Amino acid sequence: MNLDGKRVIIVAGSGGVGKTTTSAALALRLAAEGRRVAVVTIDPARRLAAALGMDELGNEPRRVEGIELRGELHAMQLDAKRTFDELIERLAPDERAAKEVLGNRIYRELSGAMTGSQEFTAVAKLYELHRDERYDVVVLDTPPSRNALDFLDAPDRLTGFLDGRALQALLAPTGLAARIVGRGTGVVFSALSRITGIDLLADLSVFFRSLTGLIEGFRRRAAGVKELLGDPATTFLVVTSPEREPVEEALFFHGRLRDAGMPFGGLIVNRVHSAPDADVAGLDATLGERLAGKVGETLRDLRVLADRDAAAIELLKRELWLRDPVLVPLLDHDVHDVEGLALLQRHLG
Ligand SMILES: Nc1ncnc2c1ncn2[C@@H]1O[C@H](COP(=O)(O)OP(=O)(O)OP(=O)(O)O)[C@@H](O)[C@H]1O
Ligand SMILES: [Mg+2]
Repeated sequence: MNLDGKRVIIVAGSGGVGKTTTSAALALRLAAEGRRVAVVTIDPARRLAAALGMDELGNEPRRVEGIELRGELHAMQLDAKRTFDELIERLAPDERAAKEVLGNRIYRELSGAMTGSQEFTAVAKLYELHRDERYDVVVLDTPPSRNALDFLDAPDRLTGFLDGRALQALLAPTGLAARIVGRGTGVVFSALSRITGIDLLADLSVFFRSLTGLIEGFRRRAAGVKELLGDPATTFLVVTSPEREPVEEALFFHGRLRDAGMPFGGLIVNRVHSAPDADVAGLDATLGERLAGKVGETLRDLRVLADRDAAAIELLKRELWLRDPVLVPLLDHDVHDVEGLALLQRHLG
C-alpha cells in the first residue's frame, strides 16, 4: 500500500470489520516511519485508548508516550457534541454570538439531534486537523454506522439542509420564524413564559438570529470539507472481512467512491483464515488416533474457512480490478495492546 504524499487517510468499511484497529496500526506505522500523525478514532468501546496505553482519549489529539517512534503519534477520540460546539465557536462572527448560540435551549436540543449522526462532525474535525501544522498526516477511523456511505454524503446533506426550502422558509423575513417571534404570537408566548418560566420567545429569536449569521460559515465549511475529501492527497482505504455482507458493502462503497470522484487508495481484507498445508494422513503415528482425529477435524474446518476466504478475495480482486489487496490474517487474539497493533501493522504491506 503506497501512502507516500498522503495527508489524509480515511479508513472506511462495514461495522466490526476492524476499521478502528487498522486505523491505529496504520497510524503507528506512519509514526514509526517518521511522520507526525494524528489518529482520530470513533470507538465507543474505548478499546483503542487502552491499546495505546492511554487511560482516556479526549477530543483533542494527545501525544502517545512510551513507544519508540521516529515521528510522533497523537490520538484522539471524537466527541461529536464537543466538536459541533467548537465549530459554532469558530464560525460565529464573535465571542458573544458564539456564547449566545451555545447557551441557547433550542440550539442544545438541535445540536443533540445533529450530532446523533457522527459523520458530519467527523469530517469537520478532520478538516481542522488537516489544517493544523503540528501534523503531517491525519488518519480517520469512521463511525460504526451500518451504512458507511453516510459519511460521504455528510457535507452535501448539510448544504442541502441549509439551502433547503424548509430552512429558507423558516428564516425568510416573512417566514415562519418572523411570524413566531412577531407581534401576534408574542402574547401567547409571554403568557407561556409566565406560566412555565421558560422564555421560549427569547430563545427562538436568539436562535434564528444567530443561525442566520452562521449559515454562510457553515456553507463555506461544507464546501471546504467536500474539496478535502476529493483532494489527491486524501485517500480512502476500504476495510472488509471475508464474510459475504461486508464484502458486498465494500464493493458498493468502492462504487460510490468512484461515482463521487473520491480517491480510492486500497482494499484491506482483514481476519483472513489460513490453513497449514499439513498432511493429515501422517498424523496418527505421532499423535495417537484420538488426538490425530481431532487435529484432522480442525484442519478440515480451517480449510473450509480458508477456501471460503480465498473465494471472497478472488471476487473482490475481480470486481475491483485489483491485483494485490492487502491481506491481514486472523490473529490468535484480539488486538488490545501496542504489541498487537505492531503485529497487525506488519501485514499492512
Ligand atoms: N486481524 C485480526 N485478528 C484478530 N482480531 C482482530 C483483527 N482485527 C481486528 N480484530 C478485533 O476485532 C474486534 C473489532 O475490531 P475493530 O473495533 O477495529 O472493528 P471496527 O470496524 O472498528 O468496529 P466498529 O464498526 O464497531 O467500529 C476488536 O476486538 C479487534 O481487536
Ligand atoms: Mg470502530
